[in-house]
Amino acid sequence: MAEIIGGYFTSHVPAIGGAIHKGLKADPYWKPFFDGYPPVHEWLAKARPDVAVVFYNDHGLNFFLDKMPTFAVGAARRYDNADEGWGLPLFKSFEGHVPLSWHIIEQLVDDEFDITTCQKMLVDHALSIPFELAYPDASVWPVKLVPIAINTVQHPLPSAKRCLALGRAVNKALASWGGNERIVVIGTGGLSHQLDGERAGFINAEYDSFCLDNLAGDPDALTHDSVHEIVRLAGTQGVEVLNWIAARGALGLGAAREIHRNYHIPISNTAAATLLLEPA
Ligand code: DHB
Ligand code: FE
Repeated sequence: MAEIIGGYFTSHVPAIGGAIHKGLKADPYWKPFFDGYPPVHEWLAKARPDVAVVFYNDHGLNFFLDKMPTFAVGAARRYDNADEGWGLPLFKSFEGHVPLSWHIIEQLVDDEFDITTCQKMLVDHALSIPFELAYPDASVWPVKLVPIAINTVQHPLPSAKRCLALGRAVNKALASWGGNERIVVIGTGGLSHQLDGERAGFINAEYDSFCLDNLAGDPDALTHDSVHEIVRLAGTQGVEVLNWIAARGALGLGAAREIHRNYHIPISNTAAATLLLEPA
């Protein structure tokens, strides 16, 4: 039987990719952030996942404002990384887990989620950077990918309650999967940040603590705010916390145990956070 080994949650700020590329991990600006990752490396080395189900948001690379699925699930054989404008180096491609993608897609539709299915899909910094952080020495990614993109970009956005329900439906799908893979669930983005408008640079450490403190034990607590209220609390891009909420849902209904946490303000415009959870 397949096993969900746990959840890895991380910010995906594009500048992280630049810092890795330029060898700046020990630089005073970057060190407190990169110091959050050795526990992730150790945990992954022990847990040895071979599949990653990743909840993230596309940043105008694969979907632009003219076509914006609320929830999109990849079912591609291969996912190439492309740069949507940050000038980052191109990161390694991912091998897809096509049969598991279709199983998840079928189960989600059966559960009345009207998702978009993507048999061709490019991935951007929001998907690639979490892997660059998790597997710094890999020449080939050691996991097969099932990407699930959530619209955190163009209103109307899905509610936090709906994102948690989506994640829980993915958990149900994983529980009925006949394979024997070791699955890691990943949520990327956040925490609080706003890149544009009058509140550009906005960070809310208090709301971030609320999210980090409740994600393991009471994820429903994160669904009481409307999505507009989450934008107010976390910033226009901080609403990427929806990816974390969905990924937490994919760990299942039971309690989860926090294994590791790092929080550092700021990286670029973002309150950067790293979290590891295991099903309790
Ligand atoms: C930044 C953060 C993001 O989540 C993103 O997608 C792009 C930029 C930033 O803080 O620079
Ligand atoms: Fe982002």
